[in-house]
Amino acid sequence: MQIRRVAVVGTGYVGLTTGACLATLGHRVVCADTDHQKVERLRRGQVDILEPRLPELVREGLDSGRLAFVRDTRAAVADADVVFLCLPTPMGVGGAADLAAVEAVADQIRDALPRGSVVVNKSTVPVGTAERVAALLDRPDVAVVSNPEFLREGYAVRDFLHPDRIVVGAADRDAARKVADLYTGLDAPLVLTDAAGAELAKYAANFFLAMKLSFANNLATLCEHFGADVDDVLTGIGHDPRIGSAFLKPGPGWGGSCLPKDTHALLTICQESGVDFPLLGATIETNVEHQRRLVERVVAGCTPGDGSLRGVRLAVLGLAFKAGTSDLRDSPALAIARLLKERGAELHAYDPALSETRPDLSDLLTLADTPEEALRGARACLVLTEWPEFRDLDWERVAGLLGSPMVYDFRNLLDPDRLRRAGLTCEGIGRAP
Ligand code: UGA
Repeated sequence: MQIRRVAVVGTGYVGLTTGACLATLGHRVVCADTDHQKVERLRRGQVDILEPRLPELVREGLDSGRLAFVRDTRAAVADADVVFLCLPTPMGVGGAADLAAVEAVADQIRDALPRGSVVVNKSTVPVGTAERVAALLDRPDVAVVSNPEFLREGYAVRDFLHPDRIVVGAADRDAARKVADLYTGLDAPLVLTDAAGAELAKYAANFFLAMKLSFANNLATLCEHFGADVDDVLTGIGHDPRIGSAFLKPGPGWGGSCLPKDTHALLTICQESGVDFPLLGATIETNVEHQRRLVERVVAGCTPGDGSLRGVRLAVLGLAFKAGTSDLRDSPALAIARLLKERGAELHAYDPALSETRPDLSDLLTLADTPEEALRGARACLVLTEWPEFRDLDWERVAGLLGSPMVYDFRNLLDPDRLRRAGLTCEGIGRAP
């Protein structure tokens, strides 16, 4: 493998993982971020995000001299063979991806890029962005390549070092090869395509994953109607290798920093390009409807007939969008909390990942320091994030804390028999109560 000089612009979980892992593979990496304090912390080996193995890889990179952190983006790219753009592309006006950060950096680095270097879009960007960045750079000697990331939060290092596939797209095949060669040593199929193919592969992947989850959640509702168990039905179909059983666990709806943003962005792309893709709109709408339905279940269970939760105290266990992260972006737990609050509920919530960060959620709920504090005197308990420690709570004690014996397990995490023995009623998703 040829050792390359790599610059990574942006040290979010994608950029930092990319930088640290490329350094582990032997490349010389400089990561740039405009946040001065973050750069200082990273130079000391301090990683702010919850990402297994990442702190160790960052420290190893620093110790070996293969990984460095700077504030000056132009200085970082000035010496690079390959420049990765790992920048935020949040949901902008009308659901489209907001490319302001990508465009600003393209502007900034235009004159600083070495001759013959390659710029790589790692961030999730609309189809045509590689072309747009090339036009902005206006440097015929610099190729722009699309190399989307497929990193799950909480598994980013694992997914980087053991990828299912590596997708690289560019009109300039030599430039695409140069990027693909950075990953030499990783055991994964390489998909070489053009930029539009790579950009679409990323959106298509996240859309398909979201579609599976909307399917699973609707299927759960169908199972409830017929008294069937959704796990049995999913096992019944999952043995067919054309279907499989991964990523089909029903829950409180899908969320996080990627699936909602990317499905909305793809919907905008379809609308703007006049391509009708009804499954996409249905996937998004199903998620919204699913959450409304879950809330109606809680309302009906807590206040039969009345429809209001005014003055009803509810305990929420779990706020992060999934276990293993403290990320609250587009968290289904928060979406459900908002709907409950609109109905008048008084919410007390506990999440083990938020004990230290303690985000300000005071306009929505009271953040408790312990599960007990959230549960005391509540009319019902809702499990909204699948933290394993909730499974091991002392449920006899919980029964004593709750004002009534109702537990809504919207992650199908708990053992209903165990809760029953503790005198509690546990309602999951897609299961007979
Ligand atoms: C997602 C994709 O899984 C990654 O492949 C992709 O690279 C990443 O987005 C990205 O675009 O960067 P992530 O946002 O970390 O990764 O979250 P997931 O693990 O996919 O979970 C998304 C949501 O689906 C969560 O709310 C989770 O709780 C829910 N989920 C997931 C279920 O309800 N059931 C499942 O079986 C799996």
